[in-house]
Amino acid sequence: MLILVVGATGVLGRETTQRLLAAGERVRASTRAPHTAQDLAGLGAEIVQADLIDPQTLERACAGVDAVFVAAHSLMGTGKYASRAVDGVGHRALIDAAKAAGVERFVYTSVRGVAVDHPVDFFRTKAEIEQYLRDSELDWTILRPSPFMEWHVHRLLGKGIVDTGRTTVFGSGNVPTNFIAAGDLAACASVALTAPRMGHRTLELGGPDNPTRRQIVELYERETGRTAKVRYVPVALMRIAGPLLRPINPVVSRLMGASVWGETVDQTFDARTVPSDVPLPSTTVDTFVHAQVHRR
Ligand SMILES: NC(=O)c1ccc[n+]([C@@H]2O[C@H](COP(=O)([O-])OP(=O)(O)OC[C@H]3O[C@@H](n4cnc5c(N)ncnc54)[C@H](OP(=O)(O)O)[C@@H]3O)[C@@H](O)[C@H]2O)c1
Repeated sequence: MLILVVGATGVLGRETTQRLLAAGERVRASTRAPHTAQDLAGLGAEIVQADLIDPQTLERACAGVDAVFVAAHSLMGTGKYASRAVDGVGHRALIDAAKAAGVERFVYTSVRGVAVDHPVDFFRTKAEIEQYLRDSELDWTILRPSPFMEWHVHRLLGKGIVDTGRTTVFGSGNVPTNFIAAGDLAACASVALTAPRMGHRTLELGGPDNPTRRQIVELYERETGRTAKVRYVPVALMRIAGPLLRPINPVVSRLMGASVWGETVDQTFDARTVPSDVPLPSTTVDTFVHAQVHRR
């Protein structure tokens, strides 16, 4: 089986590519910058240069492939890589290319909370792509994961405490929120790509616990043995600034909109609802934080 991973250099794509290769699958790993995927080539992946805004490269990437896993996004992209161009138009082009190439299975990484009337454009775009995929004749699976620990627990929150003793929390920090480790999600993605009876299913996936961001700060304080200096960006400020910034800086506006949405809608997840035929995400936030702090 030859599996194309689009976004193979990203957090989820890299974990999934490594897992598939370790399981003996053939992987074609796609990136816009092949030099950033040398580690994956070293593990046995075939590297292909492809760009979601360039349909010809997608045709080439899909040729001869049995399954496609797409774990790419452009949440922060600007200009020709604006989210709409990559996450909307580009993903439609990939679905069309996969269909034309006779791909059997297509696994799309969406996100928990998507809706066509979502207040944040990125989530609306994801909802539109889900529908486009369901309407295609492909054998599809949609993954809807919680925010990844690698981004939302570590890089955007805890890393600052480890590096400088300082961090910023967008919002109150009091909202219980579910997070998933990319490795756990990669295990689910691998099953969705290779196991039977995975087609025509939407899988809501999350980790085992629902800490607040203040609790995560406390975990980093405990693990590093230092008291963090925390700056809070108030929700009221983001509620006003987000829409005002849209014409000037749509990316910051989008991130503020997502933070405001995160304060107003239940962000928890009950891991007991994960279907029994996919691996149960088991990495807790405190295990994850401990590993991040002590790997240095
Ligand atoms: N991060 C989260 O917390 C989270 C939560 C829920 C769902 N998701 C979804 O999970 C998926 C993976 O997220 P991630 O956090 O692992 O991503 P990431 O680490 O930010 O990596 C993004 C990937 O997208 C690729 N990409 C960006 N623009 C591209 C383009 N024009 N053409 C082709 N590839 C492009 C990049 O590849 P190159 O730069 O090498 O080309 C890179 O591999 C995304 O669909 C995301 O929306 C993420």
